[in-house]
Amino acid sequence: MARQRLAAPAHGFAMLVAVQVAMVAALLALGYGSEMASARRVTAEQGLAAAINSTAKATRPVVVTITEDIVLTGSLPLILGPIVIKGACGGRKCVIDGAGKYGIFQAYAAPPQCSVTIENLILRNAAEGAVYSKCDLKLTRVHFAKNKGSSAAAVGNGLAKWHIEDCLFEKNSASGAGGALYVSAAGRGRLVRTTFRSNRAGQDGGAVYIFGQVANAYVLDRVTLDSNTAGKSGGGLFVVGTASGAPKVFVSGCKFTKNVAAGGPGGALALSYLLDARICHTSIAGGRNSAKDGQGNDLALLDGNYFPQMTVSFCPANPNSLSLFVTPVPRLPIVRQNCAVCALPR
Ligand SMILES: *[C@@H]1O[C@H](CO)[C@@H](O)[C@H](O)[C@H]1NC(C)=O
Repeated sequence: MARQRLAAPAHGFAMLVAVQVAMVAALLALGYGSEMASARRVTAEQGLAAAINSTAKATRPVVVTITEDIVLTGSLPLILGPIVIKGACGGRKCVIDGAGKYGIFQAYAAPPQCSVTIENLILRNAAEGAVYSKCDLKLTRVHFAKNKGSSAAAVGNGLAKWHIEDCLFEKNSASGAGGALYVSAAGRGRLVRTTFRSNRAGQDGGAVYIFGQVANAYVLDRVTLDSNTAGKSGGGLFVVGTASGAPKVFVSGCKFTKNVAAGGPGGALALSYLLDARICHTSIAGGRNSAKDGQGNDLALLDGNYFPQMTVSFCPANPNSLSLFVTPVPRLPIVRQNCAVCALPR
């Protein structure tokens, strides 16, 4: 069932499989299995690097199947074209380990020529982040653990769209914003059935930081943010809007517990500048989230004063005991009950 859903041409990710560069094929082509095997053995790491190299000239996705755990002994090459990287280690997820020294996947070409799909892997112990993508990014059933330095997953400046589903981000840390996930790309983005636990950012957004772009939509659909910590504001999630048009932010069916904004307001969630936020069927109040000096243990609305104002809609009702902080400005954000705005965009 899950496979069929992946195969559907959802969200504009090209799923056509043209070049099958399975690890086995790479090993055979390079002579593994012959009498000279020991002298010419190609490691899984080299096979992966060769497949990544082939993306530079690929016009359709290169498909790499990882069948054993890999501990990196060096940086992998840059991804410069479309690629699908899947784990297939039987009943468990294969691991790619950055050995505490290397980043893992970095994709630098521009969409739509370039897209990166990663499925069914554990990416851990990366230095300077596990995945950095300027390409469209799709992550399914990926666990990010104990990655350090930069955000575990980052979607960089450019036009990239992103879709993250059934993933787990645990114990990652970043010195800057977004302990687990940092987004500054212009494309729309969606997080589905994903958990962020015990991630830590030096600055805003203990788990997730989104730099919103004009007239765009971001969806968090059934996301759990638990025990994440920001050095500044937005212990779980920080979304910054623009001054010239309100990006939409859907927080739907989500749960915020025990997130901490150690150095500023917004223990669970901080929203900044101009945004149109819809917080629907989400548990946020009473989840033991905390902010510095109790300034919006649950929610902070920062640096408003635009026209039209920042709008925050709650459904089914404004939570009774919401701990809310609002930057005092002449044109205050509008906080209201409104279920009519909850339908998620496709
Ligand atoms: C990948 O390309 C780089 C740069 O051209 C090269 O140095 C490296 O050996 C290649 N790796 C593999 C495994 O083909």
